[in-house]
Amino acid sequence: MALLKILEVPNPLLKKKSAPIIEVTEDLRRLMNDMLDTMYDAPGVGLAAPQVGILKRIVVIDVTRENEPKHPYKMVNPVIIAHSETTGVHDEGCLSVPEQYAPVERFETVTVEYTDENGTKQTLSADGLLAICIQHELEHLDGTLFIDHLSKVKRDMIVRRVEKERRWKNAHPEEDE
Ligand code: NI
Repeated sequence: MALLKILEVPNPLLKKKSAPIIEVTEDLRRLMNDMLDTMYDAPGVGLAAPQVGILKRIVVIDVTRENEPKHPYKMVNPVIIAHSETTGVHDEGCLSVPEQYAPVERFETVTVEYTDENGTKQTLSADGLLAICIQHELEHLDGTLFIDHLSKVKRDMIVRRVEKERRWKNAHPEEDE
């Protein structure tokens, strides 16, 4: 198990477009396992490769609760191929925008097509938190963060708060857990 460093706003890598994967290799499987370990450790329900500085179209997701059996998804080259007409607005957060939450409008259900860790094509229809998480994570692959759905004023305020919190933590390393 290896924990990867999660990049935070305003790191410019988070704004880049990620490249498709040509082949699912052993190295890629290891990366996806490391991403899952990093996500569980954070803790979070989703993590996209650009959040650990790797501009490849990979996301890992697990929206199960702490007292439920784990149900991780490892998605290579995921694409949303269908979605509901209906939308819902829910508070979202992001490991790259730590401890900040804001409401974002998302489709209520989505169908995602992806390649799994064995190189097999999969199709998954999702609703609820899983559907929200899929939409959030896939946007990371095109350099879009949930705060990009907010007004510039709100977004700038959130980024400033994250930077301020980080400066404080860097100045007080003994407070780290
Ligand atoms: Ni995120």
